[in-house]
Amino acid sequence: MNPHQPHIEIKKEISGGDFSTAGQISSELKNILQQAGLPPQFIRRVVIATYEAEMNVVIHAYRGTFSTSIYPDHVEVILEDEGPGIPDVDLAFQEGFSTAPPHIREMGFGAGYGLSNMKKCSNQIEIQTQVGKGTKVMMIFYLDQTQGNSSVSNK
Ligand SMILES: Nc1ncnc2c1ncn2[C@@H]1O[C@H](COP(=O)(O)OP(=O)(O)OP(=O)(O)O)[C@@H](O)[C@H]1O
Ligand SMILES: [Mg+2]
Repeated sequence: MNPHQPHIEIKKEISGGDFSTAGQISSELKNILQQAGLPPQFIRRVVIATYEAEMNVVIHAYRGTFSTSIYPDHVEVILEDEGPGIPDVDLAFQEGFSTAPPHIREMGFGAGYGLSNMKKCSNQIEIQTQVGKGTKVMMIFYLDQTQGNSSVSNK
């Protein structure tokens, strides 16, 4: 198999504010990774990070797309949303920082740990964002953990 060609590709839509379907895409991805026979520890990292990223679109943006490519040695996830964007990405990565309003906090979200969890669980994370337009989050997960630590780049 060519390691540069994805063997599974998924693309889905995410609706902002729709808590009835929130989290479905990351749980579908979990099933696919399990069926592919990938190690549980690896699946756990991917699913925690994609769940946080999916919830960020539901909570903070208006709509978005979720794309995954599964390669033999790594998984790439891209979430692109239309939304308010993130004015200060470094601040947003700080544990405990959240702009979630009270009604979101009442549902148990908005602790401000999503982005830092995504950073911990992924091997690479990159955020491109434009205030008033939207945000694109790209994450890479290597099966072989020695392939580099999580690094953040903001562009
Ligand atoms: N897709 C996004 N669009 C706009 N703002 C975002 C987006 N994702 C994150 N943010 C901003 O970054 C902040 C921190 O995000 P993070 O995921 O760490 O915490 P949270 O979503 O507020 O709370 P938690 O993830 O713990 O429920 C958010 O409060 C929000 O201001
Ligand atoms: Mg979050």
